[in-house]
Amino acid sequence: MSEASLLKQALRAVMSGQARASADMHRPAWHLAPPVGLLNDPNGFIQHDGRYHLFYQWNPLACAHGAKFWGHWSSADLVHWRHEPVALVPTEAYESHGCYSGSAVSDHGTLTLVYTGNVKYPDGTRTAFQCLARENERGEFDKSGPVLPLPDGYSGHVRDPKVWQHNGLWYMVLGAQDINLHGKVLLLRSADLTRWEVVGEIAGSGLNGLGDFGYMWECPDLFSLGETDVLICCPQGLAAQSERYLNTFQAGYFTGRLDHQTGAFPHGEFTELDLGFEFYAPQTTLSDDGRRLLFGWMGIPDGDEFYQPTVQQGWIHTMTCPRELTLHDGKIYQQPARELQQLRGEEQRWQGMADEAPHWNVSQAELLIQTSTPFSAELGGVLTLQWDGERLALSRRNLRSGELEHRYWRGELRELRLLCDHSSVEIFINQGAAVMSSRYFPTQPAHIRLMGQESMALCHWPLSDCVIE
Ligand code: FRU
Repeated sequence: MSEASLLKQALRAVMSGQARASADMHRPAWHLAPPVGLLNDPNGFIQHDGRYHLFYQWNPLACAHGAKFWGHWSSADLVHWRHEPVALVPTEAYESHGCYSGSAVSDHGTLTLVYTGNVKYPDGTRTAFQCLARENERGEFDKSGPVLPLPDGYSGHVRDPKVWQHNGLWYMVLGAQDINLHGKVLLLRSADLTRWEVVGEIAGSGLNGLGDFGYMWECPDLFSLGETDVLICCPQGLAAQSERYLNTFQAGYFTGRLDHQTGAFPHGEFTELDLGFEFYAPQTTLSDDGRRLLFGWMGIPDGDEFYQPTVQQGWIHTMTCPRELTLHDGKIYQQPARELQQLRGEEQRWQGMADEAPHWNVSQAELLIQTSTPFSAELGGVLTLQWDGERLALSRRNLRSGELEHRYWRGELRELRLLCDHSSVEIFINQGAAVMSSRYFPTQPAHIRLMGQESMALCHWPLSDCVIE
């Protein structure tokens, strides 16, 4: 379809669906969500000329995966956002089945997108092109087409370029599947963003001491935190363990030290970035003030997603809140971006036995729970959190099967910070040593009920809306 027809279809979808989507009781008030249709990965996250830009995988035409567009928001402060012109529409032969995920760089001052043109053939095979598009004076993006076809030795699954500059050269990591169906991350190098040379595989199933570690790795991101290099990636095909890898697909990281020359990246173990039910395809950027910021997708492409009730209201999925990353003792800590404190209303404090705690409204709220002794909490009657002194368990009923499902964290609990937004909660454990992000769908505005005979200290803030213009 031509760009004009696709945009006409998208406009109609927004015009006919937006009122209904915004009136949905499960609609977030301060998280980013699609006006209508399906949102997945954060793309092109960057601070450029002082403004943050966040693009997103978007199907405006249906609550389904398909030929993705790139939607685009921008913000001066990560709290007040504005819609920008739709950045990419899948119109060309080299992106016939979607403008898939990618990143943004500032190339001689021009905001430049590097993304995957996804192509499927009628016989079921596929290919992928890595493509460029540059911002013009109207804030739209002019495509310059593919800069890299499928490298030799890989299946059609090669995608999600994340690009950065190092010592005057451009580097790219790509998620890939090799012809033996092992998931890999490729490193490439370029002087000008248009001619790329493959440096090698820096990590993957069967590499660097990893055994079988999945058939495809998506959405890699590579950056340093101090002296340590961090590789984020999303392996597909890890077997579930009793308390790990419980989602259909994982998002996690390795730490090590990358040799940009040779592509050698000796690294440690894989650690999941988030232990909740919904978290995938995170992407980071470096802010002007030196913080490593992350947005994730609060969703998983597992098919069960379509049992979420918002589908009936014509929209599905949200981003996580923006988070700041730091490294302590070799582990990534995530904290809500400090800018989010602007959303806080009047603070209320309480101390006493859990059973007697106020049943605060948490539909749009931040709640700090300080305790190390056992307690449980119920949110909106549909999500429970239980701390037994050794293990924290987050539980809910599966929307498809109705079965109880659980996610876990183990450690020494000191505090939990819950960021709640109508149908989501992000639980930051011990100042970000671990996070659990999950969607949940209460039938009334959610209140929290705390239970237990031990004492705890609480702090509650209502959160205001995050304006999107
Ligand atoms: C991850 C992903 C990416 C791909 C995009 C398509 O969720 O599958 O690998 O580029 O979504 O929307």
